Amino acid sequence: MVGVGYVGIVTGACLADLGHDVTCLDTDRRKIDQLRGGVIPIFEPGLPGLVHHNTTAGRLRFDYDYSEAIPGAELVMLAVGTPTSDRGKADLSSILPAVDDVARLMDPGTTIVVKSTVPVGTTAALAIQVAEARPDVAFEIASNPEFLRQGSAVEDFMKPARIVVGSRTAQAAATVRELYQPMIDGGTPAIFCNLETAELIKYASNAFLAVKLSFVNEMADVCEEAGADINYLTEALGLDPRIGKHFLNAGPGFGGSCLPKDTQALLQTTQLVGAPSRVVAAAIDVNANRPSRMVNKIAMATGGSVRGKRIAVLGLTFKANTDDLRQSPALAIIRWLIGHEAQVRVFDPAGMDKAAALLDRVEFAADAYSCVTDADAVAILTEWPEFAALDLERVRGLVAEPMIIDLRNLYDPATMKRAGFTYHSIGR
Ligand code: UGA
Repeated sequence: MVGVGYVGIVTGACLADLGHDVTCLDTDRRKIDQLRGGVIPIFEPGLPGLVHHNTTAGRLRFDYDYSEAIPGAELVMLAVGTPTSDRGKADLSSILPAVDDVARLMDPGTTIVVKSTVPVGTTAALAIQVAEARPDVAFEIASNPEFLRQGSAVEDFMKPARIVVGSRTAQAAATVRELYQPMIDGGTPAIFCNLETAELIKYASNAFLAVKLSFVNEMADVCEEAGADINYLTEALGLDPRIGKHFLNAGPGFGGSCLPKDTQALLQTTQLVGAPSRVVAAAIDVNANRPSRMVNKIAMATGGSVRGKRIAVLGLTFKANTDDLRQSPALAIIRWLIGHEAQVRVFDPAGMDKAAALLDRVEFAADAYSCVTDADAVAILTEWPEFAALDLERVRGLVAEPMIIDLRNLYDPATMKRAGFTYHSIGR
């Protein structure tokens, strides 16, 4: 497994748990040393135990010496990052040198599997790169995109909704299929297709989710203007099996390291191939405007201006069950609040350490209750379960003003009213 980022560690540990013999490689020695010392550099429920169990069992190793692990490997999986570069394009500057390393060291018959999210056509181009580097050596190549959600990645790996394998030969498809045989035997549908389709399935999946959310968030705005309620609306929508009940929660917009990056990259691809997607462009555009709408909501709730107001912010991460702050709508909202001279105090169950390096002029609280103490308004930005189960009476006694702006719709408006709060939420 080349790359010990989020996908690499989770996939490596899970494959080891299925009984495979896995070495996770990275050029970042510090990360490898950490992992060897049992320190998992990412927050992911269930992962530390899985890594510990499989390293102890001798099926999972971490190394920076590629010449130890690549020769003799039947399968080399590439799980290096492909962040957004200029103008939304996927940045391939990590995967290209990684492929060179693999080409240089691999034995004949190796199957190279691209797990990283790469634009359509990349895996075919990588095959040319490998063939040029090692014209003497026969190899196979496949695309096997991941569909792991942060916060439930181990479960998503072990119980996937689908497995996608793109290849050019039956041999490559069969080799990758073997990896996932237990899931396929257990009834998980598997799609075997060409390289380009597999690459595009990944982007289309994330883009579809983004479209779904931008649509719901727009409908929430319409609800607010029209006196309707987004929660009932999405509940009813979700009962239509053609729509489905998941991924319909209105909120401050989608964030994270995947949806924003993959929608941009897909848009680029659609433009490049001369079939520009207007739907994806609109989803991106709606999401880009989301934080300012949220900020407006907070400002309106606090009397038109946040200047000098003490705002307690609950939630920094882009969603619950992760410590990831990348593209978190909460950061955009907090920065705006600070820029408009609000006094901001924040708390997050997992994101505080990372936030300390990204936010200045905010006060970091030890827990939710010290965060809300003396606040003129409380803004809930992430749907952590503990923020949905606050002791409202206690909160009421601590705040200066009983004002809650809930951007994740965690509470029932009637309950909040009974508890004595002025309550603002999304689309209700
Ligand atoms: C996403 C996809 O869901 C995974 O299938 C995919 O494998 C992954 O990207 C990836 O490409 O690696 P993830 O970024 O972990 O997973 O996060 P999601 O759970 O999809 O959430 C994305 C954003 O949408 C978050 O900001 C979340 O708060 C927001 N969201 C999600 C909502 O606002 N409402 C919802 O109902 C669901």
